[in-house]
Amino acid sequence: MESTAPIVMGSDHAGYALKEFIKKYLTVSTFDVEDCGTFSEESVDYPDFGIAVAEKIASGDFDRGILICGTGLGMSMVANRFKNVRAALCSDLFAAIMSRRHNDANLLVLGGRVTGTELAKEIVRVWLETPFEGGRHKKRIEKFDTIKRDLI
Ligand code: RB5
Repeated sequence: MESTAPIVMGSDHAGYALKEFIKKYLTVSTFDVEDCGTFSEESVDYPDFGIAVAEKIASGDFDRGILICGTGLGMSMVANRFKNVRAALCSDLFAAIMSRRHNDANLLVLGGRVTGTELAKEIVRVWLETPFEGGRHKKRIEKFDTIKRDLI
């Protein structure tokens, strides 16, 4: 895999082992990785790490990020509250490819208790390699910003 932009990562305790595995894979593949924690399997609250990573995508500091919790559900819920964040929980290769082609996902979310290491590595690889198709999909994504946040 050819490295592109730097990647920001984060996890809670349930995603820690998979985060470390994926971080090593990315580093070997010459990606620059910023790790926002957590840094052990000691129990923590996933929103703290989801917020830290999503803020870096929302602010434009990073173009791509990866978040991991036990199921991937909590991290997805947190990250998708941020403007300009399109977080995609993927547990198969088709979803990973389509989340890039059609949704221009800028945050990949994995479930450390759901997806095994080798499949997760492949999901990360295809997710990083697949371009956004643009066109009609761009117009659809732009509609996200018409959602009135005070109604949520
Ligand atoms: C932690 O036990 C677990 O709740 C968390 O990792 C995540 O799966 C939440 O959605």
